[in-house]
Parts: sequence; C-alpha cells; structure tokens
Amino acid sequence: MTKKRVFSGIQPSGNMHLGNYLGAVKRWVERQAEKENFFCVVDLHTLTVPQDPEALRQETRSLTALLFAAGLDPDKSILFIQSHVSAHAECCWLLNCVTPLGWLERMTQYKDKAGKQESVSTGLLDYPVLMASDILLYDAHEVPVGEDQKQHVELARDIAQRFNHLFGETFVIPEPVISEAGARVMALNDPAVKMSKSEAHVRGHAVRMLDEPAEIERAFKRAVTDSGKEVRFSDDPAKAGVNNLLEIYRVITGKGKEEVEADFAHARGYGDLKKRVAEVVIEELRPIRERYNVLMQDPAALDRLLARGAEQARAVAEPKLREIQGRVGLVLPG
Ligand code: TYM
Repeated sequence: MTKKRVFSGIQPSGNMHLGNYLGAVKRWVERQAEKENFFCVVDLHTLTVPQDPEALRQETRSLTALLFAAGLDPDKSILFIQSHVSAHAECCWLLNCVTPLGWLERMTQYKDKAGKQESVSTGLLDYPVLMASDILLYDAHEVPVGEDQKQHVELARDIAQRFNHLFGETFVIPEPVISEAGARVMALNDPAVKMSKSEAHVRGHAVRMLDEPAEIERAFKRAVTDSGKEVRFSDDPAKAGVNNLLEIYRVITGKGKEEVEADFAHARGYGDLKKRVAEVVIEELRPIRERYNVLMQDPAALDRLLARGAEQARAVAEPKLREIQGRVGLVLPG
C-alpha cells in the first residue's frame, strides 16, 4: 500500500511554544513512519509582517534544529526551508490568478491580524494562497494542523477544486487533519485566548520549547484557573484554565479523559494539578532541549541536513510546477 502524503508547515517567527508542539509537531513526529512526509519552515510566510532580518535568519535555523530535536527523522521526513524551494513563490503567483479576492478578505486570521496593524502588506492578505501553494505542490492528502489553521486548509481545497475545474485534474484535494486533543492549547495567563507565538515573550503566557525547568514550573504555578477545586474536564468557559491544564496533561501522557481525571481524583486543589502538569511538561521537553543544544553546536551538519531536505523537496515541487505552468498555457522552457 502506498503511504499517504503529508504536508505541514510552521513559521519561524518568535518562539515555538507548547501549543505548536502539542497541536502539530508532536503528531508529525509520532506518525512519520506511517506516512510520506514534507515539513516546511515557512520563512516567506513570516515576512508578511515586519521582521528584523538577522533575528529571522537566526530563528529559522534555530527552529529547524528544534524540529529535528523534537524527533523529525531525516530518513522518514523531508524537512526544508520554504525559500530554498522557489517553486512555492512561483506557484503562488499562478494560484493568485485563480483566487477571488473575496475569498481572502473573508479569512478570520487576516481580519484579526490586519485589525492590529497600522499598515497591512499585500503579503498578509495573500498569505493563504502561499499556504495553498505549499500544500498543493506536493499533492498532499493530509495536512496536520491545529484548529486555527483549519480555515486556511479549507481555502487550499477550494483553490485546488477551482483550478481543477478550470484547467482539468491537476491537484489532489487535501484534508485538514486536526486531532481531538491539543488542537487548541490556550494561554496560561488567559485561558480565553489561544497560546500564540506573538505573545510568547509575555511572562506567563506560554511555555516555550527551550524554557528551563524552573521557568516552566513558574509559568504553571501562575496559570490562571478559577476559585473552585474540582479537577475535571469541562467546557464551561469559567473552567477553561483547569480544562487547558488537563488537556496538556492528556496529550503528553497519551491517557484517556477518565484516566486523567482518575489521576487527579485525590488532588488537593489546583496546586497539585499545576505541579503535576509542570512535571510532565518538563520531562517531555528536557530531551528535546538537550538534543537541540547538541545540534546547534554543529552548524555545518545542520546545513547539510537542510540542503538534503531542499533537494528532496525540489524533486517533487519542480515537476509539479511545470505541470501547473503547462496547464495555464505558459510556454515551458525547452
Ligand atoms: P504557525 O507557525 O502559526 O503554527 C504551527 C502549527 O502550530 C499550530 N498551533 C497550535 N496548535 C494548538 N494550540 C495552539 N495554541 C496553537 N498555535 C499554533 C498551528 O495550527 C500550526 O499547525 N500558516 C501556518 C504555517 C503554514 C502551513 C502551511 C501549515 C504555512 N504553510 C502549509 C500547514 C500547511 C502557521 O502560521 O502556523
């Protein structure tokens, strides 16, 4: 049986946090043996809002090391930097020309982000078309993401369908794959909002992948809960803080909801819960941080891994781009 093809991406902006890990990366790692995988550090997406060039360069390298450290295996997954495969930007132009503007103006993430900026770049509006290019160039069947990216993957489906309708069967229609647990990890300091990279520098908002154990412990100790003491899963917004802590514990331990609640049946209030969740998070992240430190000591080895990833990605993306160019009527270079 041929393996299903998977594509997913992550932005090298700010610090990767527990939400990115539990909502996406941990599953990429766990399922990599069952699938044919392409994972992309999407530096071009990051440019849609202003970036410090040197910081972006450093964060891009650091994130690739972190993804290998989290368990992506270069023999099972192709990990590469988006800008190393120029087909992504070229495909984006071709898809721009079949994507109605209204589809992009409706995207909730665009509306949220645009509302917070004084000046909005064209790239920010076009962001989901670049994301569609990422996915469609690889004929990916599955796109494992957190809940917040669902609308963008659905847009990629719409674009693929429209293109296939206009020019004949060209693209596989991708499916968003969103796990039941961990799809929306909430901020520790405000469980009404999702944990986000842009706020990850704010004290107590997030656990960042490279935080030291003492920092992680402090962040959980300070986590916002409520005035009750029953440790149970709940969809009551007033209990969102406790629910979030239980969800984090559930994804990391891989236990079922009942089993998780049983673990805390004798907890003395939320203090015990926070302490125990901090412990499992610290133990999950410790080996990742250690492997990251080793990888960052050998930049040449990291460059070799990235060069290999880009070459493997180009081998798929370039012929696909040629097919798309041919479909729309471009004269292919002889
Ligand atoms: P990004 O970099 O914001 O996030 C990377 C992944 O982490 C997930 N995620 C979360 N999951 C659970 N809880 C949270 N609080 C949380 N915050 C983030 C995201 O859903 C995502 O899966 N546009 C994408 C990157 C991208 C992409 C792609 C993804 C570009 N091209 C093609 C899939 C396929 C983004 O900005 O993700």
